[in-house]
Amino acid sequence: MISLEIRIARRLCASSSIVRLPPKRSFSSLPPISSTSSSSSTAPCSEKPRPLIALGIETSCDDTCAAVVTSDRRILSEVLRTQHHLHEPMGGIVPKLAHHAHMRNLPAVVQEAIQKADLGERGIQAIDLIAVTRGPGLAHSLGVGLNAAKTLAAALNKPLIGVHHMEAHALTARLTSQDPHLLTDQSSDNKVAAAAEPSSAPSHWTRADHNKRLAGSDPYPAFPFLTLLVSGGHTMLLIAHSVDRYTTLATTVDDSIGDAFDKSARELQIPWLAGRAGGPGASLEEFAKGSKNPERYLDQLPIPMSLRNNKREMKFSFAGLKAAVTRIVKQETQEAELAGAARGLHPNEIEFMDIERRRDLAAGFQHCAVTHLGQKVAQGLEHCREQGLDISSLVISGGVGRNATVRSTMEQVCAAPMRQEKKSSHQQKQKQKQQQQQPTLPKKVIQVICPPPKLCTDNAVMIAWTGIERFQLGLVDPYDIDIVPKWPLDMLGTGVVPE
Ligand code: KG4
Ligand code: ZN
Repeated sequence: MISLEIRIARRLCASSSIVRLPPKRSFSSLPPISSTSSSSSTAPCSEKPRPLIALGIETSCDDTCAAVVTSDRRILSEVLRTQHHLHEPMGGIVPKLAHHAHMRNLPAVVQEAIQKADLGERGIQAIDLIAVTRGPGLAHSLGVGLNAAKTLAAALNKPLIGVHHMEAHALTARLTSQDPHLLTDQSSDNKVAAAAEPSSAPSHWTRADHNKRLAGSDPYPAFPFLTLLVSGGHTMLLIAHSVDRYTTLATTVDDSIGDAFDKSARELQIPWLAGRAGGPGASLEEFAKGSKNPERYLDQLPIPMSLRNNKREMKFSFAGLKAAVTRIVKQETQEAELAGAARGLHPNEIEFMDIERRRDLAAGFQHCAVTHLGQKVAQGLEHCREQGLDISSLVISGGVGRNATVRSTMEQVCAAPMRQEKKSSHQQKQKQKQQQQQPTLPKKVIQVICPPPKLCTDNAVMIAWTGIERFQLGLVDPYDIDIVPKWPLDMLGTGVVPE
């Protein structure tokens, strides 16, 4: 297999038209070829090229992020300023607060990311490209990041890559996953066993571990793969055919799964966990772990899109489930108030719903939401098989992808045999005959791949990496691009960007 570095070197050395750049633009610092990242001298093309270095900036929602990543899969730095402390008291993200916090924080975040990347004498000049989230997201927040990136790119004469936030979530796995076939033991039996291993990064994942394990290896998984993007703004099941080309199999008809987690956490008055692993969804997951009777409310909570009339539809829906949680909380509150009043308690002394019941409701909600995801993923896999698409993996990403129940449920779905098509007895006999004539092949393994939890939520590492993947295909943007707050992922690659 040709290594990534060599492929880049070939591209950089091959001709003067390194990338499909917009007319009248040339980047004096390209190609940045030298034997080591610290050397600034230009070297002949026969020397080992140094990898590309990308600065990524992400400000689409409520975290201000910058990171420096290389094309040989090293994460040189990552800086993230969370805004949880601003939004938690308001019960959710307030766009105006997010906008102002990005304006205050971004300069220092970018400065720190550059310093921590330790780019040697050349400092920021060693950066080969600047990638930034262009959309979808909160308009004003996106504007802060995009303006900063455009100005930096123009001032430094570097290529600019405007990244689709959801493409970045989908491609994160190609930075963080290891090809199981390249694990130490290469005997064919072990290869099959290795392929069955989940390639999810361990929860204690660190940047240093990542760099030690993956530096220099090729991106994995290869295209095409199925991807489940579950975040605060989206719930999507997609086929990733290649960088820049996606087909949506299912999306939500109402709310996103992240929104359902967030609103349910609020209804249940669950305090947010602090820090990067925090937020309402993560807090609900943690809270539900304490449930002693997770089945208590299951007969009152619907599993969305699972009735006979809509079961086969490739759609997600969370509004009904969310409404059911609200209804149960209201009902329980009224009952608690009546019982309290009967005991002569003052309204202030009455707990709106006792903690055991709240934990059970949180667990019931999570079960129904995740079962719904699993059912649609199973249908998606079946669809790919019927279309003859050779899908080998399911990549889960987006903030809700941190959730352990989501991960384990998808492992089960991908390990389950496909639904048997109904066949006539003649067809069955024919199939049996064919099977007897063929050698037994190992069962097709659909690998579940999850980026490390830290990189499932919004971050700039994924933006920098997507910038590299796009740059390598010549997908560079002009300096006058605008934000795209609403941007269907299927539109990538069509050349059309919504106004
Ligand atoms: O991808 P992300 O960081 O931002 C968006 O692009 O929306 O996703 C944020 C969403 C929020 O709704 C958050 O509550 C949810 O992901 N989330 C979780 C967990 N961690 C974050 N939901 C369920 N379980 C978690 N552990
Ligand atoms: Zn996101």
